[in-house]
Amino acid sequence: MILKGNIIYMCDKDTMIIRDKHYLIIQNRLVKGVFETVPERYQYEEIIDYGDKLIIPGMSDLHVHAPQYAFRGMGMDMELLEWLNEHAFLEEEKFSDEEYSNKAYKMFAEDLLQSPTTRACIFGTIHKESTYALAKMLDEMEMITHVGKVNMDRNSSISLQENTIESIKDTEWYIRTVIENCKNTKPIITPRFVPSCTDELMIMLAELREKYNLGVQSHLSENPTEVEWVLSLNRGAKHYGDAYDMFGLFGGNHKAIMAHCVYSGEEEMERMKENNVYVAHCPNSNFNLASGMAPIRKYLQKGIKVGLGSDIAGGTSISLFRAMQDAIIASKMNWRYLDSDKKPISSEEAFYMATMGGGSYFGKVGSFLEGYEADVLILNDEKYKCPHSLNSKERLERLIYLAESDVILEKYVRGKSIYKRN
Ligand code: GUN
Ligand code: FE
Repeated sequence: MILKGNIIYMCDKDTMIIRDKHYLIIQNRLVKGVFETVPERYQYEEIIDYGDKLIIPGMSDLHVHAPQYAFRGMGMDMELLEWLNEHAFLEEEKFSDEEYSNKAYKMFAEDLLQSPTTRACIFGTIHKESTYALAKMLDEMEMITHVGKVNMDRNSSISLQENTIESIKDTEWYIRTVIENCKNTKPIITPRFVPSCTDELMIMLAELREKYNLGVQSHLSENPTEVEWVLSLNRGAKHYGDAYDMFGLFGGNHKAIMAHCVYSGEEEMERMKENNVYVAHCPNSNFNLASGMAPIRKYLQKGIKVGLGSDIAGGTSISLFRAMQDAIIASKMNWRYLDSDKKPISSEEAFYMATMGGGSYFGKVGSFLEGYEADVLILNDEKYKCPHSLNSKERLERLIYLAESDVILEKYVRGKSIYKRN
């Protein structure tokens, strides 16, 4: 298959490639390359001509809570811990009900399908059946996702607090069921955050992680009161990250994604680097819950991997266009108010984080370099009118600041069209 249009992608953190009226060649789900004319050997492949449209790689949302989608944009006048108790937990309790969860997850999955996201790491709730239903729904839509049944056996609301052994049993049932029944969805170990997991639970989750060779997703150093609480709960931990690492749930021999990382100190950052831990940068959520501005320039300078997260419903928008814009704004405020040595994130860098940076969690994903998996977005930016003509770079830059999901004209995952706007 060959897609023709104005093609933009990153080939590393700093280098954006722009090729107008070029051909993106895809074979066996993989990118073969971007060419000015179709090479002889691909002459008989079908060409889909998208004219003047922009063609970019699919985006990876490294952190999103599916059950929180229903109350996004509400109850945002609080900080993290109060917001969890007053809003997030109350909504998540409803997912013990099959009818409610099916309805709510369908709304989430349908909107995710229309968004720029082709791959995502997703939190469900503690409920194994409804989290499996979510996993299956996403699997059938053919997005590539890692979906976790959440674990919480302390400091939760009464109906969300699990018995430790039940929590592990349910998690193992969930893991096996997803592995047996899903092609595009994988399970991922999901301790909610240190305050909601006992040491015993963490130890057993690490065993499951090892047994099924899975990744880990959780939260890290999001809010000052939360960080203090973690250190008072786990007195042996040198820092918040250490409270995962001491149980084997902080990367190293496995992949781990930690959301937020607003208050990580030098030692925690060093451990993240050593263990190859991914930062899921969730700037919109960090604004809404007044968590702060994550020092993303510092992570990038240290060579720590960074992708973007919508963090619904701390974040209000499921669109990673919005996350790119907010990542840039957060870095500007960080530079102005906190650290004048750390220059703001450029639009290229934001685009990198949304595509290649987060995509690398899933393998060779998020670029059009040869051998990358062919996740592709076709963008229609006609609604953003302009009296003079814009080049492709300007059009992309503008979408980073203006766009929501409705610019997605068509979406391909691994070379297959999975969504087309009517
Ligand atoms: N920390 C623990 N749980 C959550 C959650 O649901 N959202 C956010 N933003 N942070 C958390
Ligand atoms: Fe979160």
